[in-house]
Amino acid sequence: MLTIFKTATTETLSEISEEMRVRKTAHLVLLFSMGSQFDHLIVQQLARLGVYCLVADPASVKADDVKKLKPAGIIVSGGPASVANEPPPFDEKIFDLGIPLLGVCLGFQMWAKHVGGKVTPHDKREFGTHSLKILSADPLFEGIVSDTKVLQTHGDAIGPDSIMTILGSTENAPVAAGRYKHLWGVQFHPEVTETAEGARMYENFCFKICGITDRFPAHNVSEEKIARLGERIGKAKVLIALSGGSDSSVVAYLLKEAMKGSKAQLKGIYIRGIDRPDDEAYVQKYFAAPSEALAKEGQEHWIEIEVVDATDKFLKALRGKTDMREKRLAMRDVYKEILEEKIKEFGADFIAQGTLYTDLRESGLGHATGARVAEIKVHHNTGITFSVPEITPLSDCVKDSARGIGRDIGVPEDLLVRHPFPGPGLVVRIEGEVTEESLRVAREIDGIYIEELRAAKLYETVWQAGAVVTASRQTGSKGDDATLGHVVALWAVWSVNGFTARFAQLPYDFLDRVSRRITNEVREVGAVVYRISDKPPATIEWG
Ligand code: XMP
Repeated sequence: MLTIFKTATTETLSEISEEMRVRKTAHLVLLFSMGSQFDHLIVQQLARLGVYCLVADPASVKADDVKKLKPAGIIVSGGPASVANEPPPFDEKIFDLGIPLLGVCLGFQMWAKHVGGKVTPHDKREFGTHSLKILSADPLFEGIVSDTKVLQTHGDAIGPDSIMTILGSTENAPVAAGRYKHLWGVQFHPEVTETAEGARMYENFCFKICGITDRFPAHNVSEEKIARLGERIGKAKVLIALSGGSDSSVVAYLLKEAMKGSKAQLKGIYIRGIDRPDDEAYVQKYFAAPSEALAKEGQEHWIEIEVVDATDKFLKALRGKTDMREKRLAMRDVYKEILEEKIKEFGADFIAQGTLYTDLRESGLGHATGARVAEIKVHHNTGITFSVPEITPLSDCVKDSARGIGRDIGVPEDLLVRHPFPGPGLVVRIEGEVTEESLRVAREIDGIYIEELRAAKLYETVWQAGAVVTASRQTGSKGDDATLGHVVALWAVWSVNGFTARFAQLPYDFLDRVSRRITNEVREVGAVVYRISDKPPATIEWG
């Protein structure tokens, strides 16, 4: 299966027509991936609609290639470049082909400039959700009422004085949506869940504008993944890094299914040191320790688990490091070193990890096109070259689709609904140097926060929550003595897939209780604050 369309050779065209034959469709949409953090969500939106979406490389695909492929529609995604200061690689003749085209954010700015519009850096940048006023009736917004919520994250703006028809505006963007002939554009991101009617906009674009009529039946994603894994693994030995979180657990269950009835072997490694207070217990409960209760639930213990205590190694590697990126890299080196050692000991042929698409994208990886992708942060499980090939069956998934696969194949709900936790663990929740003391404080405050969220029945209502040991200090008085303690920052978000998030509006009495418990029970803490930023502009983790 062709993953990125780079040029229209006879081979690639015949590969694509074979894919279309299998999908029983005569139509495809070409997505020029300009490096947006969200472009994979566009692929997923179209997949949900049953539309074949092929990712194209803007750096190599020319108008002639597009003509040969004859897509029903084209989408040009957003990206970190700026048409004003850093024009992205793209053959602008593609805009003149007469094929319906939807530009999203940067993609909109690109064609707006091409048809003579003014695109300038905006003094009022827009991040977060805004209300879209629909100004002209258009098939793109059919069935959508004005004042719908949309998520914007852009710094460049399109001037209202161009030849296009303005379809909609938001408070700071007079041209939030526009059309010129066969070119449509939106400054916001219809692919994220915060854009309330985004799915409807893609549906309108595909079926009302591009005239697509075929929808291929949604195939069973987990079955296909299991079959592919089975073929790839054969009788091999697989080492899996288990964290007690949902992604690596889903991968373990996929492997279990794929290895059924074969001579393949699976071994799990749990790395202790920078983990949450209860991670190890989850791994023991669901994968290793004998328990009658679990046996009654029909769960068996099918992985040999080895726990590696790497606390000292982590502390040594992190000593003296205060920059978050440096700390992430130091953590990743230890992670790699331990897994390499275990690969050798076990004689593993593969290493399996729960890497998600989000991890790749934020690390500047993902769809391999020539467009620049911003490195938001280095994820612990990306960019490592192991001595054996990696198995990452969830690398095309985001959190909600990975959980969906887990539900499909019977992963216990208790594991699936656990909040995501970053691989670099508490390292990204400690500002400044990671020491034995700061690790202990980070673990204690996480324990209290999560315990209280569960007690207040709020745990399941938020997507993720965390507690950070910041470098700020608060002067205080405990008893009759003056004190100087850490400022702890709590955060919690509502999200669907982690690409975007809204800060969770937790009740004040709850925050009050957590704050009192933390300052009373953890001696080193002087004050507690709550973060109220969304993603974007912030990211979910502190570091
Ligand atoms: P951010 O902070 O980038 O987080 O908005 C998105 C999601 O990814 C998690 N995260 C990581 N997960 N390795 C991981 O496995 C990492 O290096 C990493 N950094 C962030 C984060 O907790 C959130 O759920």
